[in-house]
Amino acid sequence: MPTSHKFVLLVFLELLKNNFMNDFEDSSFDLEIQPSRLYPEYTSTILRAPTKPLIILKKSLAERTGPIFKDFNLGILDHDLTKNAIKNGEPLGERIVVQGKVLNEKGQPMPHTLIEIWQANAAGRYVHKVDQHDAPLDPNFLGSGRCMTDAEGNYRFYTIKPGAYPWGNHPNAWRPNHIHFSLFGNQISSRLITQMYFPGDPLLEYDPIYQAVKAKGRELLISKFDLDVTEPNFALGYRFDIVLRGHNATPFENR
Ligand SMILES: [Fe+2]
Repeated sequence: MPTSHKFVLLVFLELLKNNFMNDFEDSSFDLEIQPSRLYPEYTSTILRAPTKPLIILKKSLAERTGPIFKDFNLGILDHDLTKNAIKNGEPLGERIVVQGKVLNEKGQPMPHTLIEIWQANAAGRYVHKVDQHDAPLDPNFLGSGRCMTDAEGNYRFYTIKPGAYPWGNHPNAWRPNHIHFSLFGNQISSRLITQMYFPGDPLLEYDPIYQAVKAKGRELLISKFDLDVTEPNFALGYRFDIVLRGHNATPFENR
């Protein structure tokens, strides 16, 4: 598409957004934290951002309830990505442990919340057929796992620090190191999909997915190095707390 047409399209989409969408935002989101649905520098939002007014549906019983995982049995290695796919040795890379608390909008801990995680390996490669990045797969690392919060809302998992990888969003585009999170709260509507980043990553400044989040919300996406979480002679520790809904909700990837 010629640059002039692209510019007109972007202006048109911005007008649509300003004219129609603002009145229909879900008021339970803090729009100073959550990312805009349309962020042209993140090019796929141009195609997927709504261009018509949102229809706010009254919550049904199904949305006020949700999956209950209290008695759900996880596999013994589900929470340990450094061990759950071993074939012939240890996965390569820097071992880390990630720990945190899941809270609801009132700051109360969310017990028995299922957390699913997925990520690239240390070389920046996913085990997925569409990932053709010229970086090695690790035969001993799958890059996916899951864990559950305990009665106090705490979770913990082990993994390998993910590498950066290129993506086609713009010339020389690289994603910062990140781990994808999916959480099921106590209602279907409290499901959260987000990404955790690492402190001091120089790529954050150039990443339109991270930059699409409002400045106030970006710090909520960056884990904190924590020496108390770090395990001596084994793995560096990072703390990442997550708020499922409300004014201080962790920014959604899929809002
Ligand atoms: Fe990713």
